[in-house]
Amino acid sequence: MIDNNKEIVTTLNKTNNPPPSGGRGTSICVFAPATVANVVCGFDVLGFAVNEPGDEVIMRMTDKPGITISKITGDNGRLPLDPGKNTVGVSVQHYLESIGRTDIGLDIELHKKMPIGSGLGSSSASTVAGLFAAKTLLGDETDAAKLLPFAMKGEEMACGHGHADNVAPALLGGFVLIRSYDPLDIVRLPHPKGLYCAIVFPDVDVPTREARQIIRTKIQMKDAVTQWGNIAGLVSGLFMNDIDLIGRSMKDILVEPIRSMLIPDFYVMREMAMSMGAVSFGISGSGPSVFAFTRDEETAKLITQKLQRHLTSIKINSNTYVSEINDAGPKIL
Ligand code: HSE
Repeated sequence: MIDNNKEIVTTLNKTNNPPPSGGRGTSICVFAPATVANVVCGFDVLGFAVNEPGDEVIMRMTDKPGITISKITGDNGRLPLDPGKNTVGVSVQHYLESIGRTDIGLDIELHKKMPIGSGLGSSSASTVAGLFAAKTLLGDETDAAKLLPFAMKGEEMACGHGHADNVAPALLGGFVLIRSYDPLDIVRLPHPKGLYCAIVFPDVDVPTREARQIIRTKIQMKDAVTQWGNIAGLVSGLFMNDIDLIGRSMKDILVEPIRSMLIPDFYVMREMAMSMGAVSFGISGSGPSVFAFTRDEETAKLITQKLQRHLTSIKINSNTYVSEINDAGPKIL
């Protein structure tokens, strides 16, 4: 459970979010990006944002106090219009209560531009777009990081656990470390320029709630030592612009061996990506999406094409995306 009144510690070296504006009128359209959580070795503590895909929220002020959701597109009818049951509605409601503005009326249109249950932070992108829209419409000039506890409420509702490794990078942009959950301590990390991310979403069902239930709750000390060595190696590689160090540190002996069973031909795809020059390969969030870091856009495109072709050959539909790390976070459209 997150206590909204607790102080949030943030170490943000660069926040490119557009400044909030109080005078933008009575409606706004906001895009928030998809995210890759865990980044292989950093379960629940590391994540980064990408340029595409992402979700859009159109928010309008209304005369009647309270939140309504008038329209959701791109979800195949899977998401509830009831604001009390929808992650965007619930997190915006918590935010309005915290700033004492339940007198406000807000209508939300949610346009899903990314697959649900993909392991790409779909609910986080929607929630962050909604919260950023509300904050901007209301002219609230506090730091965007202050929205994090409300976004985490949305995660808690979506999958039973309020982890921040999707919502924090979606909200703040860039590469983010959740150093601590209690108190919430967020560190924005640097990353090498020109690092590309190739993402493939195999269209199979892996709900985060269930993917969290199958992982081990106890680990051995020797495994913990391996894992924290890799996390420290990855973070060092990000600071040192050392792509080889990043690559050899992105190994997960705790979660991947179990979750990979839910992803068709995970190890075949890893072998293919690595043999084509990927720096690293792993599960995005709780899956089923997988991602590879590459040193250039061409290799990233080649990897997505080959993996997609492979998935087609085993009769699995897929979506692919190629992106650099997105440092901007949510943007007003
Ligand atoms: N850290 C979370 C998990 C991310 O792996 O369950 C979910 O997208």
